Amino acid sequence: MLKKLNHIAIVVPDIKKAKEAYVNNFGAKVSEPKSYPEHGVTVVFVELDNTKIELMEPYGENSPIQKFLEKNPNGGMHHICIEVANINKSLETLKNKNVTILGNGKPINGSHNKPILFLHPKEFCGTLIELEEE
Ligand code: CO
Repeated sequence: MLKKLNHIAIVVPDIKKAKEAYVNNFGAKVSEPKSYPEHGVTVVFVELDNTKIELMEPYGENSPIQKFLEKNPNGGMHHICIEVANINKSLETLKNKNVTILGNGKPINGSHNKPILFLHPKEFCGTLIELEEE
């Protein structure tokens, strides 16, 4: 089911400082911050040769990553995103295997405008896994 690693997401307390750390220390190519009110995050992408790092800062009142930041005030790794060929087929397979799907259990539109699913960390060694249709 699993194809390429799409991105690794890191929650940060200050997106400008986080961006600067990657630009100033690594000379990395980093996108401009973009806010997604519907997802409650502001993100930048660090472009690597084979994947991306998504730096995320909470946006707005009810950001889904606010609690994570409170528990990890310096920031920390939040999830990994792996591509799948067909999100609905993956969903069917995982449901049949009793994997816990977060949210309403259906694919939602992610920040790349592609359908995504989040899988509960308890089944995957404490790692929150995002699946995105390639
Ligand atoms: Co993600």
